[in-house]
Amino acid sequence: MFWNLVVLDLSDNLFMGGLPRCSQKLNLVFLILNHNKFSGKFPSSLKNYSSLAFMDLSVNSFYGTLPSWIGDLVYLRFLQLSHNFLCGDIPVTITNLKRLRQLSLAGNSISGVIPFSLSNLTAMTQKHPKKPGVDMFVWYTNRVGKFREVWSIVMKRQELKYGARIFDVVSMDLSLNNLTGEIPYGITSLNGLLNLNFSWNQLSGKIPDRIGAMESLESLDLSRNNLSGEIPTSLTDLTYLSSLDLSYNNLTGRIPPGRQLDTLYLENQSIYTGNIGLCGPPLERNCSRNNAPEHDNQQKIEKISEPVLFFYFGLGSGFVAGLWVVFCTLLFKKAWRLAYFRLFDKLYDKAYVFLVVTWVRINHKETTT
Ligand SMILES: *[C@@H]1O[C@H](CO)[C@@H](O)[C@H](O)[C@H]1NC(C)=O
Ligand SMILES: *[C@@H]1O[C@H](CO)[C@@H](O)[C@H](O)[C@H]1NC(C)=O
Ligand SMILES: *[C@@H]1O[C@H](CO)[C@@H](O)[C@H](O)[C@H]1NC(C)=O
Ligand SMILES: *[C@@H]1O[C@H](CO)[C@@H](O)[C@H](O)[C@H]1NC(C)=O
Repeated sequence: MFWNLVVLDLSDNLFMGGLPRCSQKLNLVFLILNHNKFSGKFPSSLKNYSSLAFMDLSVNSFYGTLPSWIGDLVYLRFLQLSHNFLCGDIPVTITNLKRLRQLSLAGNSISGVIPFSLSNLTAMTQKHPKKPGVDMFVWYTNRVGKFREVWSIVMKRQELKYGARIFDVVSMDLSLNNLTGEIPYGITSLNGLLNLNFSWNQLSGKIPDRIGAMESLESLDLSRNNLSGEIPTSLTDLTYLSSLDLSYNNLTGRIPPGRQLDTLYLENQSIYTGNIGLCGPPLERNCSRNNAPEHDNQQKIEKISEPVLFFYFGLGSGFVAGLWVVFCTLLFKKAWRLAYFRLFDKLYDKAYVFLVVTWVRINHKETTT
Protein backbone atom coordinates (compact mmCIF):
# COMPACT_ATOMS: atom_id res chain seq x y z
CA MET A 1 0.00 0.00 0.00
CA PHE A 2 2.77 2.45 1.01
CA TRP A 3 5.29 1.19 -1.46
CA ASN A 4 6.05 4.73 -2.60
CA LEU A 5 6.76 5.88 0.92
CA VAL A 6 10.09 7.65 0.84
CA VAL A 7 10.27 9.53 4.13
CA LEU A 8 9.11 8.13 7.45
CA ASP A 9 9.74 10.59 10.26
CA LEU A 10 8.25 9.70 13.64
CA SER A 11 10.99 11.31 15.74
CA ASP A 12 10.47 12.89 19.17
CA ASN A 13 7.34 11.01 20.11
CA LEU A 14 6.44 8.35 22.61
CA PHE A 15 5.96 5.41 20.25
CA MET A 16 6.55 2.08 21.93
CA GLY A 17 7.06 -1.54 20.97
CA GLY A 18 8.69 -3.11 17.94
CA LEU A 19 8.61 -1.83 14.40
CA PRO A 20 5.75 -3.32 12.40
CA ARG A 21 6.86 -5.92 9.90
CA CYS A 22 6.33 -5.03 6.34
CA SER A 23 5.98 -7.69 3.71
CA GLN A 24 6.51 -5.36 0.80
CA LYS A 25 9.73 -4.00 -0.55
CA LEU A 26 9.63 -0.32 0.34
CA ASN A 27 11.50 2.46 -1.40
CA LEU A 28 12.07 4.10 1.94
CA VAL A 29 15.04 6.48 1.87
CA PHE A 30 14.62 8.30 5.18
CA LEU A 31 13.75 6.41 8.35
CA ILE A 32 13.79 8.84 11.24
CA LEU A 33 12.61 7.30 14.48
CA ASN A 34 14.94 8.87 17.05
CA HIS A 35 13.81 9.84 20.54
CA ASN A 36 10.99 7.38 21.03
CA LYS A 37 10.54 4.26 23.11
CA PHE A 38 10.78 1.73 20.31
CA SER A 39 12.17 -1.57 21.52
CA GLY A 40 12.86 -5.08 20.33
CA LYS A 41 15.74 -6.62 18.45
CA PHE A 42 17.38 -4.65 15.69
CA PRO A 43 14.46 -4.73 13.26
CA SER A 44 14.93 -7.44 10.68
CA SER A 45 12.20 -5.86 8.55
CA LEU A 46 14.76 -3.19 7.63
CA LYS A 47 16.39 -5.85 5.49
CA ASN A 48 13.74 -5.20 2.90
CA TYR A 49 14.32 -1.42 2.85
CA SER A 50 17.27 -1.75 0.60
CA SER A 51 17.12 1.85 -0.63
CA LEU A 52 17.56 3.34 2.87
CA ALA A 53 20.06 6.17 2.88
CA PHE A 54 19.32 7.95 6.17
CA MET A 55 18.52 5.93 9.24
CA ASP A 56 18.24 7.46 12.68
CA LEU A 57 17.13 5.07 15.42
CA SER A 58 18.99 6.88 18.21
CA VAL A 59 17.65 7.19 21.75
CA ASN A 60 15.30 4.22 21.72
CA SER A 61 15.45 0.82 23.40
CA PHE A 62 16.55 -1.47 20.59
CA TYR A 63 18.64 -4.38 21.82
CA GLY A 64 20.49 -7.43 20.48
CA THR A 65 23.37 -7.59 18.05
CA LEU A 66 23.86 -5.58 14.90
CA PRO A 67 23.07 -8.01 12.06
CA SER A 68 25.67 -8.66 9.40
CA TRP A 69 23.09 -7.92 6.66
CA ILE A 70 23.45 -4.25 7.58
CA GLY A 71 26.26 -4.36 5.03
CA ASP A 72 23.63 -5.05 2.35
CA LEU A 73 22.03 -1.63 2.82
CA VAL A 74 24.59 -0.24 0.43
CA TYR A 75 22.86 3.12 -0.04
CA LEU A 76 23.25 4.08 3.63
CA ARG A 77 24.91 7.45 4.13
CA PHE A 78 23.79 8.33 7.62
CA LEU A 79 23.60 5.58 10.22
CA GLN A 80 22.74 6.87 13.66
CA LEU A 81 22.09 4.13 16.23
CA SER A 82 23.39 5.82 19.39
CA HIS A 83 21.88 5.36 22.82
CA ASN A 84 20.16 2.03 22.50
CA PHE A 85 21.01 -1.30 24.11
CA LEU A 86 22.80 -2.92 21.19
CA CYS A 87 25.49 -5.45 22.04
CA GLY A 88 27.87 -7.90 20.36
CA ASP A 89 30.52 -7.09 17.78
CA ILE A 90 30.47 -4.48 15.05
CA PRO A 91 29.84 -6.66 11.97
CA VAL A 92 32.77 -6.49 9.57
CA THR A 93 30.24 -6.16 6.73
CA ILE A 94 29.62 -2.60 7.87
CA THR A 95 32.72 -1.68 5.89
CA ASN A 96 30.78 -2.62 2.71
CA LEU A 97 28.87 0.63 3.11
CA LYS A 98 30.83 2.58 0.53
CA ARG A 99 28.51 5.59 0.72
CA LEU A 100 28.51 5.92 4.51
CA ARG A 101 29.60 9.36 5.74
CA GLN A 102 28.21 9.39 9.25
CA LEU A 103 28.31 6.47 11.63
CA SER A 104 27.31 6.64 15.27
CA LEU A 105 27.03 3.65 17.55
CA ALA A 106 27.68 5.70 20.70
CA GLY A 107 26.19 4.74 24.00
CA ASN A 108 25.44 1.07 23.43
CA SER A 109 27.11 -2.05 24.85
CA ILE A 110 28.99 -3.00 21.73
CA SER A 111 32.12 -5.07 22.38
CA GLY A 112 34.89 -6.75 20.41
CA VAL A 113 37.38 -5.03 18.13
CA ILE A 114 36.87 -2.24 15.62
CA PRO A 115 36.83 -3.83 12.12
CA PHE A 116 40.30 -3.79 10.61
CA SER A 117 39.02 -2.92 7.13
CA LEU A 118 37.74 0.56 8.02
CA SER A 119 39.67 2.01 5.12
CA ASN A 120 36.99 0.45 2.85
CA LEU A 121 34.59 3.18 3.95
CA THR A 122 35.64 5.19 0.94
CA ALA A 123 32.98 7.91 1.31
CA MET A 124 34.80 8.93 4.48
CA THR A 125 37.92 9.66 2.46
CA GLN A 126 36.25 12.31 0.31
CA LYS A 127 36.40 15.80 1.64
CA HIS A 128 33.80 17.15 -0.73
CA PRO A 129 30.87 15.00 -1.81
CA LYS A 130 29.61 14.95 -5.35
CA LYS A 131 27.83 18.13 -6.32
CA PRO A 132 24.09 18.18 -5.58
CA GLY A 133 21.66 18.01 -8.46
CA VAL A 134 22.68 14.76 -10.04
CA ASP A 135 22.03 12.81 -6.89
CA MET A 136 18.43 12.02 -5.91
CA PHE A 137 19.40 11.64 -2.24
CA VAL A 138 20.67 15.18 -2.17
CA TRP A 139 17.35 16.33 -3.51
CA TYR A 140 15.48 14.42 -0.80
CA THR A 141 17.76 15.72 1.90
CA ASN A 142 17.22 19.26 0.73
CA ARG A 143 13.48 18.67 0.98
CA VAL A 144 13.65 17.20 4.45
CA GLY A 145 16.45 19.40 5.70
CA LYS A 146 14.74 22.58 4.61
CA PHE A 147 11.89 22.03 7.02
CA ARG A 148 14.13 21.71 10.06
CA GLU A 149 17.57 20.65 11.12
CA VAL A 150 16.92 16.96 11.62
CA TRP A 151 20.40 15.49 11.58
CA SER A 152 22.26 15.63 14.84
CA ILE A 153 25.92 14.86 15.42
CA VAL A 154 27.89 15.08 18.67
CA MET A 155 31.23 16.74 18.07
CA LYS A 156 33.36 19.41 19.72
CA ARG A 157 31.68 18.42 22.98
CA GLN A 158 28.22 19.49 21.82
CA GLU A 159 25.29 18.21 19.87
CA LEU A 160 25.27 19.96 16.52
CA LYS A 161 22.16 20.00 14.35
CA TYR A 162 22.34 19.95 10.58
CA GLY A 163 19.88 20.34 7.77
CA ALA A 164 20.94 19.82 4.19
CA ARG A 165 24.50 20.78 5.22
CA ILE A 166 24.81 17.27 6.66
CA PHE A 167 26.55 16.42 3.39
CA ASP A 168 29.58 18.42 4.47
CA VAL A 169 30.01 16.44 7.67
CA VAL A 170 31.93 13.17 7.89
CA SER A 171 31.84 11.62 11.32
CA MET A 172 32.50 8.41 13.21
CA ASP A 173 31.38 8.08 16.81
CA LEU A 174 31.88 4.76 18.60
CA SER A 175 32.09 6.30 22.08
CA LEU A 176 30.58 4.85 25.24
CA ASN A 177 30.81 1.17 24.38
CA ASN A 178 32.99 -1.78 25.45
CA LEU A 179 35.28 -1.92 22.45
CA THR A 180 38.66 -3.57 22.98
CA GLY A 181 41.82 -4.12 20.94
CA GLU A 182 43.76 -1.52 19.03
CA ILE A 183 42.70 1.42 16.93
CA PRO A 184 42.97 -0.04 13.40
CA TYR A 185 45.74 1.54 11.40
CA GLY A 186 43.36 1.92 8.42
CA ILE A 187 41.51 4.69 10.23
CA THR A 188 44.24 7.11 9.18
CA SER A 189 43.23 6.73 5.52
CA LEU A 190 39.78 8.18 6.32
CA ASN A 191 41.07 11.68 5.73
CA GLY A 192 37.62 13.15 5.15
CA LEU A 193 36.60 12.66 8.80
CA LEU A 194 35.81 15.88 10.67
CA ASN A 195 34.86 14.07 13.83
CA LEU A 196 36.33 10.95 15.41
CA ASN A 197 35.17 9.88 18.83
CA PHE A 198 36.36 6.58 20.35
CA SER A 199 36.11 7.78 23.95
CA TRP A 200 34.82 5.70 26.88
CA ASN A 201 35.89 2.28 25.57
CA GLN A 202 38.69 -0.12 26.53
CA LEU A 203 40.90 0.39 23.51
CA SER A 204 44.58 -0.41 24.04
CA GLY A 205 47.79 -0.11 22.05
CA LYS A 206 49.11 3.07 20.52
CA ILE A 207 47.57 6.05 18.79
CA PRO A 208 48.38 5.39 15.09
CA ASP A 209 51.58 7.21 14.08
CA ARG A 210 50.03 8.54 10.91
CA ILE A 211 47.07 10.20 12.66
CA GLY A 212 48.36 13.46 11.17
CA ALA A 213 47.21 12.18 7.76
CA MET A 214 43.58 12.69 8.83
CA GLU A 215 43.92 16.29 7.77
CA SER A 216 40.22 17.23 7.97
CA LEU A 217 39.85 16.36 11.66
CA GLU A 218 38.24 19.13 13.70
CA SER A 219 37.22 17.07 16.71
CA LEU A 220 39.22 14.14 18.09
CA ASP A 221 38.26 12.37 21.30
CA LEU A 222 40.21 9.28 22.42
CA SER A 223 39.71 9.88 26.14
CA ARG A 224 38.89 7.20 28.73
CA ASN A 225 40.57 4.20 27.10
CA ASN A 226 43.75 2.24 27.87
CA LEU A 227 45.86 3.71 25.10
CA SER A 228 49.59 3.64 25.79
CA GLY A 229 52.82 4.77 24.16
CA GLU A 230 53.67 8.29 23.08
CA ILE A 231 51.49 10.93 21.46
CA PRO A 232 52.51 10.84 17.76
CA THR A 233 54.24 14.02 16.63
CA SER A 234 52.11 13.98 13.49
CA LEU A 235 49.19 15.11 15.67
CA THR A 236 50.60 18.62 15.34
CA ASP A 237 49.88 18.46 11.57
CA LEU A 238 46.12 18.59 12.22
CA THR A 239 45.67 22.29 11.55
CA TYR A 240 41.84 22.26 11.62
CA LEU A 241 41.69 20.53 15.00
CA SER A 242 39.66 22.65 17.39
CA SER A 243 38.69 20.04 19.97
CA LEU A 244 41.02 17.39 21.38
CA ASP A 245 40.69 15.03 24.32
CA LEU A 246 43.31 12.40 25.24
CA SER A 247 42.55 12.34 28.97
CA TYR A 248 42.44 9.20 31.14
CA ASN A 249 44.61 6.86 29.12
CA ASN A 250 48.06 5.45 29.82
CA LEU A 251 50.01 7.71 27.48
CA THR A 252 53.68 8.37 28.21
CA GLY A 253 56.56 10.54 27.08
CA ARG A 254 56.94 14.10 25.96
CA ILE A 255 53.96 16.02 24.58
CA PRO A 256 54.85 17.00 21.00
CA PRO A 257 55.57 20.72 20.73
CA GLY A 258 53.42 22.84 18.45
CA ARG A 259 51.40 26.01 18.51
CA GLN A 260 48.20 24.16 17.58
CA LEU A 261 48.38 21.86 20.60
CA ASP A 262 49.39 24.76 22.87
CA THR A 263 46.25 26.66 21.85
CA LEU A 264 44.05 23.60 22.42
CA TYR A 265 45.60 23.19 25.87
CA LEU A 266 44.97 26.84 26.74
CA GLU A 267 41.31 26.38 25.79
CA ASN A 268 40.91 23.19 27.80
CA GLN A 269 43.55 22.23 30.33
CA SER A 270 42.13 18.77 30.97
CA ILE A 271 42.98 17.26 27.58
CA TYR A 272 45.99 15.34 29.00
CA THR A 273 44.65 14.71 32.52
CA GLY A 274 44.91 11.19 33.90
CA ASN A 275 47.98 10.09 31.91
CA ILE A 276 50.63 9.79 34.63
CA GLY A 277 53.43 9.13 32.12
CA LEU A 278 53.08 12.35 30.11
CA CYS A 279 55.66 15.06 30.65
CA GLY A 280 57.12 18.25 29.25
CA PRO A 281 55.43 21.56 28.46
CA PRO A 282 52.63 22.56 28.71
CA LEU A 283 52.48 20.20 31.72
CA GLU A 284 54.43 21.10 34.85
CA ARG A 285 56.01 17.66 35.11
CA ASN A 286 59.57 17.74 33.72
CA CYS A 287 60.74 14.91 31.49
CA SER A 288 63.76 13.04 32.85
CA ARG A 289 66.96 13.63 30.89
CA ASN A 290 66.56 10.83 28.35
CA ASN A 291 62.82 11.32 28.29
CA ALA A 292 62.60 7.96 30.03
CA PRO A 293 61.40 6.96 33.50
CA GLU A 294 64.03 6.81 36.28
CA HIS A 295 64.25 3.03 36.65
CA ASP A 296 65.37 2.70 33.04
CA ASN A 297 68.50 4.70 33.81
CA GLN A 298 69.26 2.48 36.78
CA GLN A 299 69.00 -0.58 34.59
CA LYS A 300 71.51 0.96 32.21
CA ILE A 301 73.99 1.49 35.07
CA GLU A 302 73.53 -2.11 36.17
CA LYS A 303 74.15 -3.28 32.63
CA ILE A 304 77.40 -1.32 32.48
CA SER A 305 78.69 -2.51 35.88
CA GLU A 306 77.99 -6.19 35.20
CA PRO A 307 80.96 -6.76 32.81
CA VAL A 308 83.24 -4.83 35.17
CA LEU A 309 82.32 -7.22 37.97
CA PHE A 310 82.99 -10.17 35.71
CA PHE A 311 86.37 -8.72 34.82
CA TYR A 312 87.48 -8.48 38.45
CA PHE A 313 86.12 -11.91 39.24
CA GLY A 314 88.03 -13.36 36.26
CA LEU A 315 91.20 -11.60 37.29
CA GLY A 316 91.01 -12.98 40.85
CA SER A 317 90.14 -16.53 39.90
CA GLY A 318 92.85 -16.57 37.19
CA PHE A 319 95.47 -15.50 39.72
CA VAL A 320 94.44 -18.19 42.21
CA ALA A 321 94.42 -20.92 39.52
CA GLY A 322 97.86 -19.89 38.22
CA LEU A 323 99.32 -19.99 41.73
CA TRP A 324 97.92 -23.48 42.26
CA VAL A 325 99.41 -24.78 39.01
CA VAL A 326 102.86 -23.57 39.98
CA PHE A 327 102.53 -24.84 43.53
CA CYS A 328 101.33 -28.32 42.48
CA THR A 329 104.07 -28.84 39.89
CA LEU A 330 106.68 -27.89 42.45
CA LEU A 331 105.12 -30.28 44.92
CA PHE A 332 105.06 -33.32 42.63
CA LYS A 333 108.03 -32.89 40.25
CA LYS A 334 111.27 -33.33 42.17
CA ALA A 335 113.62 -32.24 39.38
CA TRP A 336 111.58 -29.08 38.70
CA ARG A 337 111.51 -28.35 42.44
CA LEU A 338 115.28 -28.61 42.67
CA ALA A 339 115.81 -26.53 39.58
CA TYR A 340 113.34 -23.93 40.86
CA PHE A 341 115.00 -23.58 44.26
CA ARG A 342 118.45 -23.58 42.72
CA LEU A 343 117.41 -20.77 40.42
CA PHE A 344 115.87 -18.99 43.36
CA ASP A 345 119.13 -19.46 45.37
CA LYS A 346 121.18 -18.08 42.50
CA LEU A 347 118.91 -15.08 42.07
CA TYR A 348 119.00 -14.51 45.80
CA ASP A 349 122.82 -14.61 45.86
CA LYS A 350 123.06 -12.25 42.90
CA ALA A 351 120.59 -9.84 44.45
CA TYR A 352 122.45 -9.98 47.77
CA VAL A 353 125.79 -9.30 46.15
CA PHE A 354 124.31 -6.49 44.08
CA LEU A 355 122.75 -4.86 47.15
CA VAL A 356 125.93 -5.10 49.24
CA VAL A 357 128.08 -3.71 46.43
CA THR A 358 125.70 -0.80 45.85
CA TRP A 359 125.53 -0.09 49.54
CA VAL A 360 129.30 0.00 49.82
CA ARG A 361 129.56 2.28 46.81
CA ILE A 362 127.00 4.73 48.21
CA ASN A 363 128.77 4.78 51.60
CA HIS A 364 132.08 5.30 49.90
CA LYS A 365 130.71 8.24 47.93
CA GLU A 366 129.27 9.81 51.09
CA THR A 367 132.54 9.54 53.01
CA THR A 368 134.64 10.97 50.16
CA THR A 369 132.42 14.07 49.77
C1 LIG B 1 10.77 -9.03 2.95
O1 LIG B 1 9.86 -8.97 1.86
C2 LIG B 1 9.45 -10.24 1.40
C3 LIG B 1 8.58 -10.02 0.21
O2 LIG B 1 9.24 -9.25 -0.75
C4 LIG B 1 8.70 -10.96 2.51
O3 LIG B 1 8.35 -12.25 2.09
C5 LIG B 1 9.60 -11.04 3.75
O4 LIG B 1 8.88 -11.60 4.82
C6 LIG B 1 10.11 -9.70 4.14
N1 LIG B 1 11.06 -9.84 5.21
C7 LIG B 1 10.99 -9.18 6.33
C8 LIG B 1 12.07 -9.47 7.34
O5 LIG B 1 10.11 -8.39 6.58
C1 LIG C 1 32.63 11.99 22.58
O1 LIG C 1 31.60 11.18 23.04
C2 LIG C 1 31.27 11.36 24.41
C3 LIG C 1 30.23 10.33 24.80
O2 LIG C 1 29.34 10.07 23.77
C4 LIG C 1 30.79 12.78 24.60
O3 LIG C 1 30.44 13.00 25.95
C5 LIG C 1 31.91 13.72 24.19
O4 LIG C 1 31.46 15.07 24.29
C6 LIG C 1 32.31 13.46 22.76
N1 LIG C 1 33.51 14.23 22.47
C7 LIG C 1 33.51 15.30 21.68
C8 LIG C 1 34.82 15.95 21.49
O5 LIG C 1 32.51 15.73 21.16
C1 LIG D 1 50.43 1.40 31.47
O1 LIG D 1 51.38 0.96 30.53
C2 LIG D 1 52.47 0.23 31.08
C3 LIG D 1 53.42 -0.13 29.95
O2 LIG D 1 53.61 0.95 29.12
C4 LIG D 1 51.94 -1.02 31.76
O3 LIG D 1 53.01 -1.70 32.38
C5 LIG D 1 50.90 -0.63 32.81
O4 LIG D 1 50.33 -1.78 33.36
C6 LIG D 1 49.80 0.21 32.17
N1 LIG D 1 48.90 0.67 33.20
C7 LIG D 1 47.58 0.57 33.10
C8 LIG D 1 46.81 1.11 34.25
O5 LIG D 1 47.05 0.06 32.13
C1 LIG E 1 61.80 21.64 35.80
O1 LIG E 1 63.08 22.05 35.35
C2 LIG E 1 63.34 23.44 35.53
C3 LIG E 1 64.72 23.71 34.96
O2 LIG E 1 65.00 22.97 33.83
C4 LIG E 1 63.28 23.79 37.00
O3 LIG E 1 63.46 25.18 37.16
C5 LIG E 1 61.91 23.40 37.56
O4 LIG E 1 61.90 23.62 38.96
C6 LIG E 1 61.64 21.92 37.28
N1 LIG E 1 60.30 21.61 37.72
C7 LIG E 1 60.00 20.51 38.43
C8 LIG E 1 58.55 20.36 38.78
O5 LIG E 1 60.84 19.68 38.76
